Amino acid sequence: MKVLVIGSGGRESAICWRFAKDAKIEKLYCAPGNDGIATLAEIVNISVCDFEKLANFVKENKIDFTFVGPEIPLSLGVVDYFNSCGLKVIGPSKEAARLESSKIYSKEFMSKYGIPTAKYSSFSDVGNALNFIDTLNESSKVVIKADGLAAGKGVHICSSKEKAKDIVLQMMKEKVFGSAGTSILVEEYIDGGELSYLVFTDGISYSLMPVSQDHKRINDKDQGLNTGGMGAYAPAPRATIELNKKVEDIIKKVIDGISKEKLKYKGILYVGIIVSNGLPYVLEFNCRFGDPEAQAILPLLETDLSDICIAILEQKLSKVQVKWKNKFSVCVVLASGGYPENFKTGFEIKGLDNIVDDNTIIFYAGVKSVNDKFVTSGGRVVGITSITDNIEDAINKVYANVNLIHFDGMHFRKDIAWRALSGKK
Ligand code: GLY
Repeated sequence: MKVLVIGSGGRESAICWRFAKDAKIEKLYCAPGNDGIATLAEIVNISVCDFEKLANFVKENKIDFTFVGPEIPLSLGVVDYFNSCGLKVIGPSKEAARLESSKIYSKEFMSKYGIPTAKYSSFSDVGNALNFIDTLNESSKVVIKADGLAAGKGVHICSSKEKAKDIVLQMMKEKVFGSAGTSILVEEYIDGGELSYLVFTDGISYSLMPVSQDHKRINDKDQGLNTGGMGAYAPAPRATIELNKKVEDIIKKVIDGISKEKLKYKGILYVGIIVSNGLPYVLEFNCRFGDPEAQAILPLLETDLSDICIAILEQKLSKVQVKWKNKFSVCVVLASGGYPENFKTGFEIKGLDNIVDDNTIIFYAGVKSVNDKFVTSGGRVVGITSITDNIEDAINKVYANVNLIHFDGMHFRKDIAWRALSGKK
């Protein structure tokens, strides 16, 4: 089989790594990929949004199917375009991808199908949004969300009405997120611990992956700015059988809603859950693998990813028993100093060759090759994942390997998976 992966980050590095282990894949391409991914796949210099060029490349190279990593091409309709050319592709249609690309649409979907989530009001008029905030109770936090995609920066938890109004003005008047902030949601704040429930789905049935937990803040103990994600681990011990049963009831409602709405969904659905007083609520949907979650989950996948993709494409997922390793994984992201704000790039990444452990994998995100050496080229640079039989050993192993790597300004969290050990939320 020949496969094309679309995307260029740590997530796509993990997807390529899993395909590269699959004996049925004779040729793997990644567009646009990065120089680290080039160790696994042939790099194709086409942007994720140039659908025509991507589809022509697939036709010319007789590629069997394409796997879309990031949300932007999905929200712009890459799946619809490929299908209109008769090409097979893993990912939801543009309409289905609105579950991620429009927070208002996803809330309306949740209301319609009885899915538990925080109460909200939506606004497309700035004056109405500000007046509504004035009516709220001063003592409770309030969440302001941009309706559209804002690269993980569109959600703000505000501790006062003044802060909430300031964010609304930034989004709706100053347009700091462009058109993503034309409409906004004002949402009730739910206090609790977050978990990432990802499923493979063919739009009719689903298969749950090991439950993972992301670490979104830049610094230890969840301090500092929000990032794309600084590390993840799986399976999360807090995802007990009892909790998973409650979340699976939610996931069934989502899949049922997708089917009733006749949404074309053949791909990955990421259900972001917050657990409050033992009850799960949906925070958000993403229509693709999470990053770094993919870097923690995919190393645990026993069944070949191509078998799952073929079953999804043929809508026969219910016939496949997806198997997972009975192990724990921990992924630590190494970032450029200053990320998620301004940072410098071009620093040599030293020590990658020192990682020789079979149970530790390097996933490449913001890297490029200069004079045969890898240098930094982005905010999140590499993800290091270790897998072992228990979470404590996985933590020790991953940090022993992280300590072999260095680049100027390198920043990473020292507490990935601490919740798994401490039992905290
Ligand atoms: N890790 C969060 C996300 O991928 O959106």
